[in-house]
Amino acid sequence: MDALTTLVILLSYVVSILRICSAVDSITVNQMIQDGETITSAGGSFELGFFSRPANSNKRYLGIWYKKVATGTVAWVANRELPLNDTSGVLKVTDQGKLVLLNGANTIIWSSNSSRSAQNPNAQLLESGNLVMKNGNDSDPENFLWQSFDHPSSTLLPGMKLGRNIITGLDRRLSSWKSTDDPSRGNFTYRLDPNGFPQLIVMQGSDVTFRSGPWNGLRFSGFPEMRPNPVFKYDFVFNEKEMYFTFDLVNSSVITRLELNPNGDLQRLVWIDRTQGWTVYATAQKDDCDIYALCGGYATCNINDSPRCDCMKGFVPKFPDEWNRMDWSGGCDRNIALNCQNGDGFLKYSGIKLPDTRNSEFNRSMNLKECESLCLRTCSCTAYSNLDISRGGSGCLLWFDNLTDIRDFTEDGQEFYVRMAASEVDAFASSSKRKKQRWVISISASIVALILLSLLLGLYILKKKKKKKKKLKRKGTMLYNLEGSQTNERQEDLDLPLFDLTTICNATNNFSIDNKLGQEDQMRSMTLDWPKRFVIINGIARGLLYLHQDSRLRIIHRDLKANNILLDSVMNPKISDFGIARSFGSDETKASTNRVVGTYGYMSPEYAIHGVYSIKSDVFNFSVLVLEIVSGKRNRGFRHPDHYLNLLGHAWTLYMEDRYLELIDKSIGVTCNLPEVLRSINVGLLCVQRSLDDRPSMSSMVQMLGSEGALPQPKEPGFFTETNIHEANSSSSKHAPFSGNKSSLTFLEAR
Ligand SMILES: *[C@@H]1O[C@H](CO)[C@@H](O)[C@H](O)[C@H]1NC(C)=O
Ligand SMILES: *[C@@H]1O[C@H](CO)[C@@H](O)[C@H](O)[C@H]1NC(C)=O
Ligand SMILES: *[C@@H]1O[C@H](CO)[C@@H](O)[C@H](O)[C@H]1NC(C)=O
Ligand SMILES: *[C@@H]1O[C@H](CO)[C@@H](O)[C@H](O)[C@H]1NC(C)=O
Ligand SMILES: *[C@@H]1O[C@H](CO)[C@@H](O)[C@H](O)[C@H]1NC(C)=O
Ligand SMILES: *[C@@H]1O[C@H](CO)[C@@H](O)[C@H](O)[C@H]1NC(C)=O
Ligand SMILES: *[C@@H]1O[C@H](CO)[C@@H](O)[C@H](O)[C@H]1NC(C)=O
Repeated sequence: MDALTTLVILLSYVVSILRICSAVDSITVNQMIQDGETITSAGGSFELGFFSRPANSNKRYLGIWYKKVATGTVAWVANRELPLNDTSGVLKVTDQGKLVLLNGANTIIWSSNSSRSAQNPNAQLLESGNLVMKNGNDSDPENFLWQSFDHPSSTLLPGMKLGRNIITGLDRRLSSWKSTDDPSRGNFTYRLDPNGFPQLIVMQGSDVTFRSGPWNGLRFSGFPEMRPNPVFKYDFVFNEKEMYFTFDLVNSSVITRLELNPNGDLQRLVWIDRTQGWTVYATAQKDDCDIYALCGGYATCNINDSPRCDCMKGFVPKFPDEWNRMDWSGGCDRNIALNCQNGDGFLKYSGIKLPDTRNSEFNRSMNLKECESLCLRTCSCTAYSNLDISRGGSGCLLWFDNLTDIRDFTEDGQEFYVRMAASEVDAFASSSKRKKQRWVISISASIVALILLSLLLGLYILKKKKKKKKKLKRKGTMLYNLEGSQTNERQEDLDLPLFDLTTICNATNNFSIDNKLGQEDQMRSMTLDWPKRFVIINGIARGLLYLHQDSRLRIIHRDLKANNILLDSVMNPKISDFGIARSFGSDETKASTNRVVGTYGYMSPEYAIHGVYSIKSDVFNFSVLVLEIVSGKRNRGFRHPDHYLNLLGHAWTLYMEDRYLELIDKSIGVTCNLPEVLRSINVGLLCVQRSLDDRPSMSSMVQMLGSEGALPQPKEPGFFTETNIHEANSSSSKHAPFSGNKSSLTFLEAR
């Protein structure tokens, strides 16, 4: 009885000691951490102690792991190379301010190192996951005797620096684990290469396998998708004392880390509460074009081309046979040698990952003009560009060797100038001008053809309706979409000649399938991933911009909706059904009609109510489309259990409450490009604003979609709520004379 009580008291005493133990976040000279004991950071995010890898083995490591969320994920390991064989390990703080890890035989198997003198040293596990050795309570990072953040394992946590201290020579690099069960150093490192203009590289042993491209003031030039976003921010610091990359959280409730995995993949992982697991938000090595120097010197890699590698303009494969056998590593040579003394020029490239900078030089104070003339004056200089493209561009970066590891992103971006013999520059400059002209002509021609074809088909139906020719019934399915629109309303707008059936049959080669313009309404089954959806959004935006601004006649489509977006086999969107489109003179911007024709769910308020239409009504339609594409839901008929808002109202409410993540279609998946999605939502909401003047034009919209600057805050959208469906039906049908059997003013209520 007595013995039992004593035992219970003893046990509870031990338990309470353990509790105290695990509640502290630091140890001093007289304390130690034995295997089984841990210390926890003040906020409970990280824990320091001993763990096994593989999990049930007797190999014991001292390390830091996530505690509150992502419990058990190891972020740092001390004795990576030398595991303990049993649970006899002890961590101590020495008088000299060193951390030492001892085994059962009291042998030091790992220790921290410091050249500074210690006074009252103690080790503390900070909330960031950083284990620091400090003097007394001196919490100035500058004065730390040692910190685990200076000796990363394979994980870069928010606030860690990846790179070098130039003064002390400290080089912080990630090195991969050998395998997921073996923390010892694997084959890969991710580090800052200080040669030339510094760049981050992944190395396998002594070979470069991946380069992120030089920092251009905004991002690494190999990561065009690296954009300001609401989750984390990043920076590249490069001054006389330090050069490093770092990232930090904007919203600390997000758990994210960079990891160099045992296969050498550099990944950003995000913890997802719902699934209780890490997801890959982005992988640095996207595809084969990210393999270092896949195409050899003076060649570019474009993942959408076949073959991927292409010599730069004015260059030919150095080893044509190998090149044709898809061994591109030999690279390319100049057609015409440079003439150093006089007469060389430059060809401009843009939207590329800048070549390897290990053989480069830079000057921060030069401008682009000075940069060009310096390159011309220096015989060995082969290319130049701005060093920093933020704030309009500044600084000078010069290359002196083969240009290697260039990736072509086929998009606008940083400009890059390659030195060429003058004769080549002339030849390419004029040929590209001609090419551009040819392009414009062929695009205009195909759009005109498309418009004509739609008009022809529309007119054909008109005629058919009038004459009720039985013959036409057979073609019914192909014309279904057009017939769904209200043909009797069209005459107001179309004073064009009518064509008879023979003409149409001839024009369409007997309605040949070859002349069919894409597939009908694939948006309905929205199973596409985000990149495809974004391509569609951009494609539609560019198409509309062309109609509104770049074509000779300003054309307002008036019935832009998912059904009228046809997708070809590679998901290029085509705007179709110009049945109720109106062409405007170049000085006209709006018109009105007393017959409102279109599709509810897409119509702008001013059009549905007052019959006023303008390019801004197309803008409105476009944005409804964008929000539908992002959310995977139709505006028309949208229902939410919690409220009576339509999709626009729902999107705006979520946006205002900072809950826009909830709007995104689940099937897009979590690995999508979040900033791009959010940008699309923001642009979408800007263009359904009630006031015409608040809505941006298509040209600024195209710009906003493609840029990464801050966007204005959208105001409340037009057609925000829909109250009771029946109420809405009766009140709004007063405004519009139009009523068809397929479309009716059922779901919208103007406010
Ligand atoms: C583990 O055991 C092996 C073999 O007995 C020995 O060589 C090694 O040094 C031990 N490791 C440690 C950390 O004590
Ligand atoms: C500690 O530093 C000394 C000299 O600065 C060096 O020789 C030694 O290898 C270092 N020890 C560890 C464990 O890093
Ligand atoms: C930290 O050190 C300073 C100066 O030695 C002292 O005044 C202060 O009380 C200490 N604070 C704590 C919490 O120990
Ligand atoms: C951070 O995110 C959480 C949920 O993810 C949200 O509740 C909170 O408001 C956000 N904080 C800030 C400052 O954005
Ligand atoms: C690491 O290198 C070794 C030796 O070169 C090789 O056997 C092993 O497969 C490599 N591991 C990985 C993950 O590439
Ligand atoms: C950079 O360019 C400026 C202006 O041409 C020049 O004065 C300076 O010496 C250059 N700096 C270096 C490091 O070359
Ligand atoms: C540049 O080309 C030479 C020979 O043409 C080759 O030996 C060298 O490795 C190349 N340098 C780079 C960085 O590709």
